[in-house]
Amino acid sequence: EKQPILVQGPMPIEAEEFAERLDDVEEEKSGNFVFYIGTVDDYPVIVAKTGKGMENTAAATTLAIEKYDPIAIINQGTSGGHDPELNVYDIVLGERVTNIGALKTDDRDEGEGIEPTDWIPMDLMASEGSAGEDPDAENIRYYDGDKDLLEAAQAVKGSHEEGKVVEGTIGSADLWNNEVDRINWFHENYETSVEEMEGAAGAQMADAYDVPYLGIRILSNNKTNDGEYDPDTAQANQEYVYEVVREYISSM
Ligand code: 5AD
Repeated sequence: EKQPILVQGPMPIEAEEFAERLDDVEEEKSGNFVFYIGTVDDYPVIVAKTGKGMENTAAATTLAIEKYDPIAIINQGTSGGHDPELNVYDIVLGERVTNIGALKTDDRDEGEGIEPTDWIPMDLMASEGSAGEDPDAENIRYYDGDKDLLEAAQAVKGSHEEGKVVEGTIGSADLWNNEVDRINWFHENYETSVEEMEGAAGAQMADAYDVPYLGIRILSNNKTNDGEYDPDTAQANQEYVYEVVREYISSM
């Protein structure tokens, strides 16, 4: 049997539109997770409504890998801009994705305060030793997007008419940043194009099982250039990702 392509979306508005495009759909639930099992161009495709955030995404990814043995995973949805050159409706292809919530604080005694700009990236996968003490853990871990998925996405860039499609770095954490100085800090230190709450968690699990993975994120908001939140971006992204999936299938 053919291994399915897995398309993940966190919120109902980020998954259901794609699910409606599937043929011969059956719905399966596991915990809070909903899997829409169907086909695109007669090829098996599963849409997963994962819920928001890192924990839901990690669990939904692992579960889907164990249950459905996907050939590839696309994690897609909305995001907030870290790059002032990017506007609401632009799409970022995750050439890299990284966890921007994995941090170790600087050493400070009582009364010396809290200094987030001195916090140090912490790589939980650096070693089996203590992440707090291991110098190798003072490292930003990037997960590379899969080359074939990236190629398929690049081939259909023209299908997205509401904005541009660029390669970039996706930063993930269970965090919504509204402080522009903090956003700029991540943009400078992690080279993030956008932030969201899922991509790095799915990438970590996909990497653990060696499954090809790509994050595809549309900007629904951008504090760095006053780009106001627009929830309709979620649908536009699914329309683009549908074309990516068709292209990936046709190139197999
Ligand atoms: N910061 C964090 N997450 C964001 N999302 C959209 N914009 C942002 C932002 N600026 C996405 C997350 C999450 C939901 C709140 O929307 O991935 O699923």
